[in-house]
Amino acid sequence: MPDKFLKKLQADFDLGLSDCRKIISAFSSEMSKGLAGQKSSLKMIPAYVDVPAGSEQGRFIAIDLGGTNLRVLEIELNGRGGLRKLKEKKYVIDKKHTLASSGQFFGFIADKIKGFVSDHPVEAGFTFSFPVKQTAPAAGVLIRWNKDFAVRGAVGKDVVGLLNGQLLARGLPDLRITALVNDTVGTLVCRGYSDRHCDVGLILGTGTNACYREDLAKIGKWKGPKSAGEKMIINIEWGDFDQIKTSPYDKLLDRQSANPGKQILEKMVGGMYLGEVARLVLVDLVKRKMLFSGQPAGKLSLQKSFKSEYLSVIEADSPSGLRQTRNILSGLGIKNVSRPDARLVKNVCELTAKRASIISAACLAAVIKHIDRNLKNKHTVAIDGSVYEKHPVFAKQMRKALQAIFGQKAQKIKMALTKDGSGVGAAVIAAVAGTKKSNSAGTHD
Ligand code: GLC
Repeated sequence: MPDKFLKKLQADFDLGLSDCRKIISAFSSEMSKGLAGQKSSLKMIPAYVDVPAGSEQGRFIAIDLGGTNLRVLEIELNGRGGLRKLKEKKYVIDKKHTLASSGQFFGFIADKIKGFVSDHPVEAGFTFSFPVKQTAPAAGVLIRWNKDFAVRGAVGKDVVGLLNGQLLARGLPDLRITALVNDTVGTLVCRGYSDRHCDVGLILGTGTNACYREDLAKIGKWKGPKSAGEKMIINIEWGDFDQIKTSPYDKLLDRQSANPGKQILEKMVGGMYLGEVARLVLVDLVKRKMLFSGQPAGKLSLQKSFKSEYLSVIEADSPSGLRQTRNILSGLGIKNVSRPDARLVKNVCELTAKRASIISAACLAAVIKHIDRNLKNKHTVAIDGSVYEKHPVFAKQMRKALQAIFGQKAQKIKMALTKDGSGVGAAVIAAVAGTKKSNSAGTHD
């Protein structure tokens, strides 16, 4: 067994408490810089909203563009903080959409909305899960694409304007987009609507990001009115955090990606990349003749052939039989895998996912410490995304890391799976935007 190599791998991937502390300290300092409008890998984007009180009433549409799907929903708010999903449709975003022109891409979204909406007029919230510099509650300029999207002609433009143009062209002038929302913000608002302790929204899915409720007075770069006690949600864009130790595999993945040098944290945590990180380790092991007894790596040598979902299946596989692990490898053209080899593959998958969960917990700890230095109060973190939801031990490992960081006090942090919150929250924000005008006049760097 290649002990020395495995030890090095473990050292690169198995993060301990001191690694967490380093991440927390670097993350906090990047947060402060971002808030002050200084150069930082954390954009800290003011979202122009806070969690609303719950008195909104009526039916609203949510258009939720994520990294993998487009969903359109109709939500009813009852005026007492209650909400109900009336209708929902989900469409897969094909590779061809992500490479289209902006007219074709926003045209595709508008077509789906047209097929969905029956009543007029109607107010809608648009969840757009990419980095946008928000300029108003319902306007924001796309900073850059990520998660392998490369729609042409959209960067630098107001994405609501682009969608509105296509809606108008389809004879839908009565559909008014009153809110532009990041998916983390939608998730926080969805949970925060009925849980007053909820002050953090977190996405651990295809991509990863978080947002939190900040005192308006502490947002140095905010140039709008600042009344005492008022809060505003900040979209951290944490996927771009780059003050973190990376392994040679992360560096290789980054070099081969569509956006080298960007989204460094996302490339270690997001479902878009986890499988690829594990694959690069496995291919290296094959190359060093430490795996599959010198057998070629089959389809495993192809980029992105090892899906992130495999990490969940392999993690859950019984260590005695390792049947699922062998099945997956066989599907990739690698047959007759020995028991020690299957175990090594499982080991690599576990290390990759564990590292992602610990990094997520450390960054989350930094956000919570920023809000409440000594963890005096209760905090609910609204979380959504396939990695958090589907990986068998991701949530458990995050909780363990939070316990190591905060000790007993970690009990004050509740991690709440908030399924489909990104869309539902956007509908709530759309409802609020229709009634409230405060802070719509502010700007920021
Ligand atoms: C990417 C986007 C971010 C989004 C996250 C999760 O990191 O930049 O806006 O919240 O993915 O979908």
